[in-house]
Amino acid sequence: MSLGRARILNTSEITPAVDALRQGDVVAIPTETVYGLAGNALNSDAVAKIFAVKERPSFDPLIVHIPDHLSTLDDLALAGIVDETLVTPGMQRSFDSLAKTFWPGPLTMILPKQSKISDLVTSGLDRVGVRMPAHPLAQKILKETGLPLAAPSANRFGRISPTTAQHVMDELGDRITYIVDGGPCDVGVESTVVALDDDKVWLLRPGKISVSDLKAVLSVPVEKASSVHEKASPGMLASHYAPRKKLYLVEDLRSIPASLKELRFDLLVTSGPSEAALKILADQGLTPVAVETLSKYSDAGEAAKSLFAAMRSLDRSSGQVMIATHPSSDDGLWLAISDRLRRAAVRD
Ligand code: TXA
Ligand code: MG
Repeated sequence: MSLGRARILNTSEITPAVDALRQGDVVAIPTETVYGLAGNALNSDAVAKIFAVKERPSFDPLIVHIPDHLSTLDDLALAGIVDETLVTPGMQRSFDSLAKTFWPGPLTMILPKQSKISDLVTSGLDRVGVRMPAHPLAQKILKETGLPLAAPSANRFGRISPTTAQHVMDELGDRITYIVDGGPCDVGVESTVVALDDDKVWLLRPGKISVSDLKAVLSVPVEKASSVHEKASPGMLASHYAPRKKLYLVEDLRSIPASLKELRFDLLVTSGPSEAALKILADQGLTPVAVETLSKYSDAGEAAKSLFAAMRSLDRSSGQVMIATHPSSDDGLWLAISDRLRRAAVRD
């Protein structure tokens, strides 16, 4: 499906990508989580182009990526990103602990924004998501452009996030000029998103930095966003990360709905080896068309890293639908994996 016209640039040839970003164009760049579609966060035309290329609705705000020398709120204020006059002492304390421990890395913090950051970036919200990516190539591009870069995942809206340059080519190759290749993404699921309040930190999107990781360094409670707060993170739509085929998330392979058993299906084994799952199916006279196993030994890091590539691969098989098993735990990074699977799945 690689019909794209985009050029894939490797580590040693990023200059055209840097020039394009400086000229207000959009470029796909690697990060440690997923590939991003980057544009100058201070240029509304560039930001508008990101929304257009992704076909992303304007109510879904973008994350602003920063170089690793902007590590304090003072730095972020001087860079025109954060409005420090709206930062309370409690927010400041939480920011300091989180930035010190988890940046650069897969954590996005939602903070009061300055007016220099266009309303387009934040979808009209008065807060902006800020993330300092750890990927060396992302950092190199941020430094060479000297710009804060707005970057959502480099997929068409609502679809699976890309974790390789080829995935970006398949998604957006006919719409963009450059894709910087940084290899397969290390983490594989998008950053943890938190909003800082004076006396609380809200978890808006689970990721590699888990609730217990956050709690270990904060002096305020961490709460998962209720539906009310999900309104404040409009991008967290219930349906997202979706393959083309319908994906059914099942608790128990022994009780697959009869209507599904009649279809040719693919199997995504989320944790543990495939043998046991295949045996349960075989006992019912069922054989999947294609099988992907995320982590034979139930390692969450390994499973997250292969999740989106596995969904893409099954999407190409001749099966009519996908059946995914539920992870056996919701701890740590498994929470992010089950969150993405739930959003990819069809609801009855
Ligand atoms: O790992 C990541 O975060 C990747 C890489 C490229 O950095 N980016 C990413 O961006 O996943 P995106 O646009 O696909 O998801 C960002 C989500 C939005 O959908 C929204 O839910 C939340 O972050 N968000 C961003 N800015 C926000 C804001 N100002 N207030 C509330 N939520 C915000
Ligand atoms: Mg996305």
